[in-house]
Amino acid sequence: MMIDTHCHLSKEDYEDVEKIIKNMENNIMIVSTASPSEIDEIIELCNQHDNIFGTIGIHPEFADTYTKEDLVKLESALKNPKIVGIGEIGLDYHYTKENKEIQKELFITQIKLANKYNKTLVIHSRDAIEDTYNIIREYKNENIKCNMHCYSGSLEMAKKFIKLGVVLGIGGVLTFKNEKKLKEIVSSLDMENFILETDSPYLTPEPFRGHKNEPANIKYVAAKISQLKGIEYTKVLEITTQNAIRQFDLNTKL
Ligand code: NI
Repeated sequence: MMIDTHCHLSKEDYEDVEKIIKNMENNIMIVSTASPSEIDEIIELCNQHDNIFGTIGIHPEFADTYTKEDLVKLESALKNPKIVGIGEIGLDYHYTKENKEIQKELFITQIKLANKYNKTLVIHSRDAIEDTYNIIREYKNENIKCNMHCYSGSLEMAKKFIKLGVVLGIGGVLTFKNEKKLKEIVSSLDMENFILETDSPYLTPEPFRGHKNEPANIKYVAAKISQLKGIEYTKVLEITTQNAIRQFDLNTKL
């Protein structure tokens, strides 16, 4: 079994979402929100499919535009047992640093919700790794699990996150020819620190880079890890599946 711990399956992303889901039969997907307006869509997917779980949250790109109602809606949806995490949330200074303080406030508010409802944190961090680290260290309760979605920091920072109990989401970037940093991280650290993700429809792994991504492509990420670490492919799936089940307390009946 494979678990794609982070993907987006919005009707806006795919013409035929059901076909994409069918390609992951007997495997598990954790669908993440990219926008507060997608919460209902995610709940519906979770209700319709045993092998789909969800994480919901308000992404930093909405820091200036989210409403109080969005937060109320988010909090009430967290009571659904198939919503296993809050995310993707975090900090993104790539396009603007001007609203840093507003981004931090939204991030902290949602970490407090994770603490309150015992949900796993799924973190988006772009050009903001130090601030992300400091906020997680200060505000996350010790028992709350946390993943760095599509980790893109240094090996040194990865080790600091791991000390906080954080697990790294590894996706298609690992297969890119010019990517060195992530390969070094995967080669250096133990398998217990990794979960697999596609971030579909984005970040398609080789050999399909340039095409639209889908959760079934998770196998190419697993194959690359197998090659880099010299561990059997089936063993990579087995370990990362166990890591993901533990990370999200998944109640899988598959
Ligand atoms: Ni994503």
